[in-house]
Amino acid sequence: MKGIILAGGTGSRLFPVTFATCKQLLPIYDKPMIYFPLAVLMQAYIREILIICLPKDIPRFQDLLADGSHLGLNITYAAQPEANGIAESFIIAENFIGSDPVALVLGDNLFYGHNIEEILAPCQKHTDGAIVFGYHVQDPERYGVVAFDEKRNVTNIVEKPLKAPSSYAVTGLYFYDANVVDIAKQLKPSPRGELEITDVNKVYLAQNKLKVILLEKGFAWLDSGTHAALSQASTYVQTIQERQGIQIACVEEIAYKQGFIDHSKLQALAGLHASSAYGAYLQSIATPCNPVLN
Ligand code: G1P
Repeated sequence: MKGIILAGGTGSRLFPVTFATCKQLLPIYDKPMIYFPLAVLMQAYIREILIICLPKDIPRFQDLLADGSHLGLNITYAAQPEANGIAESFIIAENFIGSDPVALVLGDNLFYGHNIEEILAPCQKHTDGAIVFGYHVQDPERYGVVAFDEKRNVTNIVEKPLKAPSSYAVTGLYFYDANVVDIAKQLKPSPRGELEITDVNKVYLAQNKLKVILLEKGFAWLDSGTHAALSQASTYVQTIQERQGIQIACVEEIAYKQGFIDHSKLQALAGLHASSAYGAYLQSIATPCNPVLN
């Protein structure tokens, strides 16, 4: 399975913070925002990853992640010059996807829960149809929203409805079979001028090939597209990390746990971060018999 991180857009809802830098490189507490969606793909055992962003931001992401080989990944980059919608990713990524299934994660989405690997496990093997995730929120009108019938079957997905048919928003993590490229190519822009991911999901729903997994109450899904959301996400990460002495979205740790890199590589990466608390954490997990890894 291939993976795409969509890290495009001007971040205009975060101006002036994003005048001179790209949103997905802003910190969520102690690490760049893009580490969080990258961690999700890695937890789904996805190692071939395409980052799609504004042309001017490609060198910035390369400075951070290079070709990904230090994490046992193969990371490449592609440009989305205009904000033509999430579904345009699949058209841009056509050659990258080839005939493989693909996961797409939005570059400002954070997913955290003890059972995330269990949730992602069936998605890795999914080669027919689509999987999306529903999450109970207070303000579903800001999102794509799932509509259910009385038997909890999914009947529709509506993008930013004035009156939401349920409280379940569709998160920014999607798994598709390789047909998604052709489906995206047939879409027409929405009234806001974008190729909507919700319209892709509606095609799968009409074919009876859309699975919606509802994430449970204890699971955290946060986005960071507004000043308040960015600050809340930072506080959330700081609180959990300091309380438990663990790291959320520590991509070096995940690479090691997933078997993408060996112990000597982990130690070398820890050395690179030596003067930060993050480096101290990496040093601690590179020490044999650390219970955090169990
Ligand atoms: C997009 C999608 C929406 C989804 C949301 C998740 O919204 O269009 O369906 O619920 O991401 O973050 P946008 O970021 O375009 O407001």
